[in-house]
Amino acid sequence: MNPAARRCLAIVLAAGEGVRMRSSRPKVLHAVAGRPMIAHALAAALEAGADAVAVVVGPDREDVAEAARRVAPGVEVFVQRERLGTAHAVLAARDALARGFDDILVTYADIPLVRGETLSALRAALAEGADLAALGFAPADPTGYGRLIEQDGRLVAIREHKDATEAERRARLCNAGPMAFRGDDGLAMLEAVAPTNAQKEYYLTDLVEIAGARGLAARALEADEAEVMGVNDRVQLAAAEAAMQARLRRKAMAAGATLAAPETVFLSWDTAIGRDVLIEPHVVIAPGVTIEDGATIHAFSHLEGARVASGASIGPYARLRPGADVAAGARVGNFVEIKNAAIEAGAKVNHLTYIGDARVGAGANIGAGTITCNYDGFSKFRTDIGAGVFIGSNSSLVAPVTIGDGAYVGSGSVITRDVEPDALAVARGRQDARAGWAKAFRARKKKK
Ligand code: UD1
Ligand code: MG
Repeated sequence: MNPAARRCLAIVLAAGEGVRMRSSRPKVLHAVAGRPMIAHALAAALEAGADAVAVVVGPDREDVAEAARRVAPGVEVFVQRERLGTAHAVLAARDALARGFDDILVTYADIPLVRGETLSALRAALAEGADLAALGFAPADPTGYGRLIEQDGRLVAIREHKDATEAERRARLCNAGPMAFRGDDGLAMLEAVAPTNAQKEYYLTDLVEIAGARGLAARALEADEAEVMGVNDRVQLAAAEAAMQARLRRKAMAAGATLAAPETVFLSWDTAIGRDVLIEPHVVIAPGVTIEDGATIHAFSHLEGARVASGASIGPYARLRPGADVAAGARVGNFVEIKNAAIEAGAKVNHLTYIGDARVGAGANIGAGTITCNYDGFSKFRTDIGAGVFIGSNSSLVAPVTIGDGAYVGSGSVITRDVEPDALAVARGRQDARAGWAKAFRARKKKK
């Protein structure tokens, strides 16, 4: 039976305490590539075609529930009051389980790298006739993991490290965590789990033997260690970040971008990069960024919540903040900060400038040191700069203010009133010149 035809409930376990993070924030809200770990886990479950998603959180974890709803608006949140083990956590979602699904897919919120297609493979195993499928991996160091005990290609048990014999501990595959099993037997099997083990916990992994005792067939699939690494402390969080960055860089390059020194470019989970984009070394791209075909991001730039249209050029040393929208062929140069502003086609903002809450019209040229004064300490105001405008260097544009198309602003102006199209506005002290003054001054000083 085709997996897509099977109704699937995904259950994401997120009730862990995360003590080793030593954090006031719950572990699963710590971010990898700019997105909370729980969001990665939920996205993978959705990619695997889950029709319904449940998340199991600890008591008073409205913050975790909220993060889950942001990714999966229809998610059902269940609270596990006491932390009595992974099977007990799954049973917290009893009401969802009881609704009757073909597939139950369980995954953990603290393994942020697991891909949707890997979870799909677990479901495919069910579609091919298995009653339960568990995900294994061959870790460099198996200490602490459950061992997948296989006989003739069948999975017969998962034995937790603490409960395993020496022979069982030598099993090639360890349990990564994610598991899929048939929904029609699921609830009854979960209820059969007993806390008869070293930890006195209800182990989800006991489902394998319970299934076997009922004549059901279990299978193990294998994933890469890098994909199923769990995050329990900040060192593992950094390792997960590094692995995710490597994946995102490969994806960008595969899609036709050049990253001259990929290990120095930091991307976000949602970074969209077109073909023939060039990203120079030491660039940080925070969430919400789209870089269209043929754009260049020069070294040491920082982008967040911004769009860079095709053929535009950013940096070096530029900062694009949320709402920066740089149109085709426009240039944003060194030590320039753009926030909530449209830089229209072909406009140039090349040096030492702050443009905030503004529009810079097509082909306009913004001189070095121009500042939009958008904030009076209480409110923000807009600056509208028309097409083809020339702003002389070191000008302050005190918002709200409009500079009409084709106007000129003389260097060093403080512009407080609107400027008509095609006009020249100069707003600075007039130059005063006194012939011979400097020479006389020096002579006076020398005499003393
Ligand atoms: C579990 C597996 C083990 C596997 C390992 C992989 C069991 C019994 N063991 O062990 O085979 O090798 O993961 O990392 O399943 N959780 C709850 N409520 C609970 C207990 C756990 O929500 O009462 C959640 C945790 O937040 C975590 C996940 O379930 O996301 C796994 O729990 P954890 O305590 O880390 O299990 P391990 O002992 O590591
Ligand atoms: Mg664990």
